[in-house]
Parts: sequence; structure tokens; C-alpha cells
Amino acid sequence: MATAVKKTKSVWFCSHCGNEYSKWMGRCPACGEWNTMVEREVVTGSPKSGAISVPGASRKPMPLKDVSTTVEDRVSLGSAEVDRLLGGGIVKGSLVLMGGEPGIGKSTLSLQLPLHRPELKTLYVTGEESVKQVKMRADRLGGSCDNCLIFSETDMSAILAEAEEVAPDLMIVDSVQTMYCQHVDSTAGSVSQIKEVAAQLLRFAKSSGIPVILIGHITKEGTIAGPKILEHIVDVVLQFEGENRGAYRVLRSIKNRFGSTSELAVFEMTGTGLREVANPSEMLIPMHEAGLSGTAISAMLDGNRPFLFEVQALVSSAVYGTAQRSATGFDVRRLNMLLAVLERRAGFKLGQKDVFLNMAGGLRITDPACDLAVICAVLSSTFDYAIPSDVCFAGEVGLSGEIRPVSQAARRAVEAARVGFKRIFVSSYTHFDQKPEGIEVVKVADIPALVRALFK
Ligand code: TYD
Ligand code: MG
Repeated sequence: MATAVKKTKSVWFCSHCGNEYSKWMGRCPACGEWNTMVEREVVTGSPKSGAISVPGASRKPMPLKDVSTTVEDRVSLGSAEVDRLLGGGIVKGSLVLMGGEPGIGKSTLSLQLPLHRPELKTLYVTGEESVKQVKMRADRLGGSCDNCLIFSETDMSAILAEAEEVAPDLMIVDSVQTMYCQHVDSTAGSVSQIKEVAAQLLRFAKSSGIPVILIGHITKEGTIAGPKILEHIVDVVLQFEGENRGAYRVLRSIKNRFGSTSELAVFEMTGTGLREVANPSEMLIPMHEAGLSGTAISAMLDGNRPFLFEVQALVSSAVYGTAQRSATGFDVRRLNMLLAVLERRAGFKLGQKDVFLNMAGGLRITDPACDLAVICAVLSSTFDYAIPSDVCFAGEVGLSGEIRPVSQAARRAVEAARVGFKRIFVSSYTHFDQKPEGIEVVKVADIPALVRALFK
């Protein structure tokens, strides 16, 4: 007698990058992280979350030259910074994922947008807060809520049915971790639910032309399978960064199918919501008196925007046997590399020193041009010598101690001059089409040359 057996199979997900494997592995081949595999039961025969059909897609291949291109239809969200981040407003029918740690301001920003753009009919779906809580927050944020509908629901079929009926200009779903689809056999927040919720919203967005903002929590370590596994499904990924305790928040575009990535917008959390900081240089440069050692200013570029910010280092004798190295907002392996370069190529004995590095403003820096400021901050702390407050740096440091040129050095120098810097240190190999005005350019070839020029 045949018994009805519910077919399930086990699959393993990497909780770091979200890749799926049929067997357990100690190290994820895709992202290289160790011990990140999480086992999940998957009901076979359930709809494949990856199967997304885009309306208007042709069934047969066609010559690329015959594909008609129209400029995407965009909707302004009423915030100049968010619009810029998205490439000029949100594209109709796109799915935007807004990720960030709990408490950083995702709900605040996503509610603030429709309140300050009252002509947009918005459906705000909340699975985390009650309608009352949302109202209290809206009162705090000000603006008009005549056209903003609040819907407290977590069942995706009810949400999509309501969205089709209401046909809003914008839909916001807070958050992906609280929503669930009935046909998926696991709890809300699990990998399969998250993927299916996102896939359903993408299908809805594409077929209805309604732009959807989806909120997703991500922990500091990024270990909880969440927004990471959605990055390839959604059209745009915006990520909030910054210290929860600090007032400044950075919203970064890390994927954008309709615009440039690595764009960045800065906000300040105030008593009445998030305020746009149009000129980030002014917020990220020092908030203390001149004359402190261990700080250096880097002229960096994020996306297309040059700005200046402070690198802080503390070098002290190691209390315990092994020296500690810690970096906030900077890759600690790169810090170790720079310290090794300082030791081997310039003779600074840092092996027995604790080195702590911090990027001001809670920023995460990946621009290699920051190397030079990191080296200078470390040396400044080592010598207890304060770098003059009108000096900034832009250069990459190579393994042999050479200072390498960075992209768009002229734009960095111009921004530095604009916010009042008098000298910028760059690589000797930097080429300027036109000499930047109002700032002295100091060209250095390697670390010994830098030390001579700076600490003379
Ligand atoms: P929230 O937007 O709920 O964060 P998330 O949705 O990312 O979890 O809340 C952010 C924090 O900001 C919260 O601790 C309260 C604070 N806050 C303000 O300081 N001012 C405000 O106007 C609001 C609405 C929140
Ligand atoms: Mg929230």
C-alpha cells in the first residue's frame, strides 16, 4: 500500500552569501567563508522561487538591434539624496531592497519618503509595528499622510491582493523577514520564505509597474541569512551604514540595475526623522580641536562624489604578548599589510604595538586611496605628532612601500581646496591635466619620502 509521503530534501545555504548546495561543506566555494552552511528542509514540488518571468519578455531570441529601448519611467521620491542614489528617482516596476541593522532608520526613512511626497499614493505594509505605532511615528516625522495607506499584514497573498486592488504609486514592505507565503513550508524569516517573498514581490512589481521598496534586516556580522541572499533577485540594493549610537547614517547603493553603484547619501537622525546632509565633507571631518595626534584626513571618492573624512589611529605598546590589531570600517587584513610595509620598507618597529584604526562617522571604506591617510594616522600616533589640520592625503600604498596614484586625483584635490585644505599629499606619478587651484600639491614617491615631507 502506497502511503502519501511528503517529499522533502535537505539543502545547505551559505548564510554569508546565500549560495545553495546539495551537500554540507566546511567552506563556501563561492565566498570562501568557513562554517557558514545552514541546513534547510525544502519541500520538493513547491514553486521555484527563482522562476521569475518578466512581462514583455520575448519567447524567442531576437536581434539585439531590434530591441526597442525607452528611457525608464521614474518616480521622484521627494528626497533629492535618495533620488540621486537611485539614479534619478525610483524606476517604475522595480524592486528596491533597503538593508541595514535593526534600529538604523530603515522604517523611518521609508515612511518619511511618502509623507514628504503626499501626491504619491502609497501602500505601506508593516509586519513589525502596529498601525498605531506607525501613526505615532508619522506624527513625529510631520508631513501629510492623506495619501498614505497603512496595512498591518504578514501574509503575502493578502498583501498582493490588497496591492492590486489599491493600485498605489509606491509600495513599501517592512520587512522581508516578517512576511510569509502560505505554500512555503517553513517559518517567516527562513531562507526559503525570504526568497519566495522577494520573488513574489518582484513578479508583482514587474507585472503591475508599481515600484516596491522592500526592507530587510542585516546583522553586523551579516551572518543571518537575509538581504545577502536577495541581492541577485532585486533590482537595486541600498544599504544603511553607520553607528547606531551616532547621529549620522550613510545610505549606500551597492547594486543598481538602473544607475551607478557606489553612490552614497548621508543623513542625520534628528528628533523629527532623517535630515539630508547635502555636503558630507563637512560632517566627516574633525569634530575636535586641531593638534591631536593619531588622525589624518583622506580625500576619498565614493561613486562619483569626492569628499573628505577623518582616519583615526591609536598605537600603543602591547600589554599582552601578542599585539592586537583592530579596524572599524576598514579591512583589517589591509591594515596588517600596511603595517608590514611600514615595518619592512620604512623600518618602523610596530610588531610589538597594539594598533587600533577607526574610520570616523561609522563609514566603511574600500577606496584604496585611503591607504596613505591610514599610514599617516598610524605614524602620527606612533610619534605623538599632530598632522597640521589643513593637510589631507590621497594615495594607495604598494607592497614595496611605493605610493601609487589614485583615480580622479584632480577632483579630490578640488574638493579638498573647496572645504579649506591647503596641502594634499599624492603619489609622484599622479598626473594632473590642470593644476588644482587653491591647494598645494605635495608629490611623494614612497614612505620614506612621505615621512621626510610630513614630519620634518
Ligand atoms: P527605525 O527607523 O525604526 O529603525 P529600523 O527600521 O532600521 O529598525 O528607528 C531608528 C531609530 O531612530 C530608533 O531607535 C528611534 C530613532 N528615531 C529618532 O531618533 N528620531 C525620529 O524621528 C525617529 C522616527 C526615530
Ligand atoms: Mg523598522
